[in-house]
Amino acid sequence: MMIYRSALKTLSVAACALVFGGGIWGAGSALAAGKTIDWAKVPEAKTVLFYPGQTSYEWIQTGTDHGGARSFLKKGDNCAGCHSEETADMGKKMVSGQKAETTPIPGKRASVPLSIKAAYDADTLYMRFSFPVGPHNAVPFAAGGMMDADNEIKLAMMFDGGKVDKAAQSGCWASCHNDARDMPSAPKKEALAAAKGIDTSHGYVTKYLPESRTAISVKEEPRGGWDKVKPQAELDALLKDGTFLDLARFKSGKGGVSEDGYILAERVLKENAGAIFTGKKDGDQWVVTMTRKLKSGLPGDVALEDGKAYTVGFAVHDDHAAGRFHHVSVDMRLGLGAEGEIKAVKQ
Ligand code: HEC
Repeated sequence: MMIYRSALKTLSVAACALVFGGGIWGAGSALAAGKTIDWAKVPEAKTVLFYPGQTSYEWIQTGTDHGGARSFLKKGDNCAGCHSEETADMGKKMVSGQKAETTPIPGKRASVPLSIKAAYDADTLYMRFSFPVGPHNAVPFAAGGMMDADNEIKLAMMFDGGKVDKAAQSGCWASCHNDARDMPSAPKKEALAAAKGIDTSHGYVTKYLPESRTAISVKEEPRGGWDKVKPQAELDALLKDGTFLDLARFKSGKGGVSEDGYILAERVLKENAGAIFTGKKDGDQWVVTMTRKLKSGLPGDVALEDGKAYTVGFAVHDDHAAGRFHHVSVDMRLGLGAEGEIKAVKQ
């Protein structure tokens, strides 16, 4: 296995004649009307999302599961430092069930190439994503072959404001636990009612941060800490203090739905509550745009500053997938006039 370090892979496509204008001002947007980003002038970052199977926060830190556990813990190495150039090959192991996957889906892609562009001005961040349409594989264990019949795709983006332990090193893995929905240590449905402080009425445990729990078991079963939620007053203090992962999500159903929220004790998402998306299928590509205030002032939104870089992560659910059956990025950096695999340019 090849290990690459600090590979920054940004590609300029200034020659690209494609201009994605118009239609980026979704309903509910309070942004200055009429601004159109000239995407042809924005450099394109390329990354490869991969199928992560059941690799969790607990899995990445356990040597018997993960070859990189020791360096991750002892040296502070980040996922991208070892893996950013080989995610397509990694995905093949989980998607086929060779590693960390108990229910492989026949025909599912091992990886999905994602193109990312970012621009900003005095008060708004603009992003544009594109990725190839899925192979339309059916899921044998889902009704009608689809886990989420309403949405062909979903695209999620996570921002780390710098206060969450290990998030700068591991991106989304700080929030993905062994006892979440469809994960190996997921609690039985009957046990869920015992949880205090989180909403388990949907029948599973969502993403959460270690900071929101009094204890997390990394190696001993049951791995995770879903039921060890801190008292509400402590959670409120963490949210106020900026200890959360900021989340924004596009769902392709109903002509496009924008969701915004955060992860702390659980995943919180509300429609039209911050980031506004539009998305459409353009030939064999999905093209999704997002606009978001740099500083919205909303609880659970990272206040973005000019000249700074932020750890970000991306996930795509293709072919009506749901829950953990998605493709994800390793940790990446979004620089607003600062260094990062994704360089947001001022327009
Ligand atoms: C110091 C380097 C290093 C770091 C840092 C590291 N890994 Fe790994 N990772 C490895 C090695 C080595 C393997 C085992 C590869 C093999 O068996 O061929 C591995 C395997 C994996 C696999 C299984 C797929 C495969 O190719 O075997 C996944 C998934 C994975 N790592 C995810 C992560 C994530 C997520 C992070 C960050 C939280 C991370 N790794 C950090 C070195 C690293």
